[in-house]
Amino acid sequence: MGTAIGRVPVPSPVLTASGCSGFGRELEPFVDLAALGAVVTKSVQLRPRSGRPTPRMAETPSGMLNSIGLQGPGIDGLLAEDLPWLAQRGARAFVSIAGTRVEDFAELATRLRGVPGVLGIEVNISCPNVESRGEVFACDPVAARDVVAAVRAAADPAQPVYAKLSPDVTDIVTIARSVADAGADGLSMINTLLGLVIDPDTMRPVLGGVTGGLSGPAIRPVALRCVWQVHQALPDVPILGMGGIRSGLDALQFVLAGASAVSIGTAVFNDPSAPARIHAELAAALAARGFGSLADAVGHAHRPV
Ligand code: DOR
Repeated sequence: MGTAIGRVPVPSPVLTASGCSGFGRELEPFVDLAALGAVVTKSVQLRPRSGRPTPRMAETPSGMLNSIGLQGPGIDGLLAEDLPWLAQRGARAFVSIAGTRVEDFAELATRLRGVPGVLGIEVNISCPNVESRGEVFACDPVAARDVVAAVRAAADPAQPVYAKLSPDVTDIVTIARSVADAGADGLSMINTLLGLVIDPDTMRPVLGGVTGGLSGPAIRPVALRCVWQVHQALPDVPILGMGGIRSGLDALQFVLAGASAVSIGTAVFNDPSAPARIHAELAAALAARGFGSLADAVGHAHRPV
């Protein structure tokens, strides 16, 4: 059951999600990395970054709140260590990039040109754990467009560029249209939803960074709504759907809403083999409903009964 990321064929529509398994090493004992659609890396920036103050993770009954703040090795470390490690295992890397200026993103895309094993680039313009809302490029159609246009111009033409969008906007279709017009080959939806947890004993926010990004089952209906709205408006733009997917039937909902691939994030904390399990469950769910291929099911829920 293959699909494509942009126009690049991959053997599975199930990918990891950025952040949850770093650069793939934690998942290796549990999943055949080469059989995944791709490993989506933790977002990388030009320089190593230590992130926000601890504590940076809080569990809630319905999901996980994180305020990591884009901790990472920087592009030099990624190129020297992590990408060769993934390539040796036959895994495709979908490299998530982040920055605070348009030029940062463009330079990162340039550094990734022609690197073996790099399937494509996910442009993270939607991390909620940044110092000012002005840094969340995905909340402004012009800022989002400028970043994506610069990345598309700088990137290897063979590497698809997906823009990762935020649910914290009033009209996600406007943002999606803007980045698609700027040359995005696809859209990753959604990043985490800005949230807050207060400890009733200390009566203070649990996270050192105060607010954080909510992931997991709580945001699944929000993510599904975003995929639905964007596919309806832009049916030709490929969507990588994510947000609280824990089972093949969850993944099926994203496909029916318009996603041609899915990313698994928070679910791996409870079940590190979740990406492989969800691939098998999705294949069975599609076959049970009479779909001969994944492509036949993409957007099916939009068609008249
Ligand atoms: O929730 C998130 N946390 N989304 C991101 O894009 C990055 C991550 C972090 O490092 O804070």
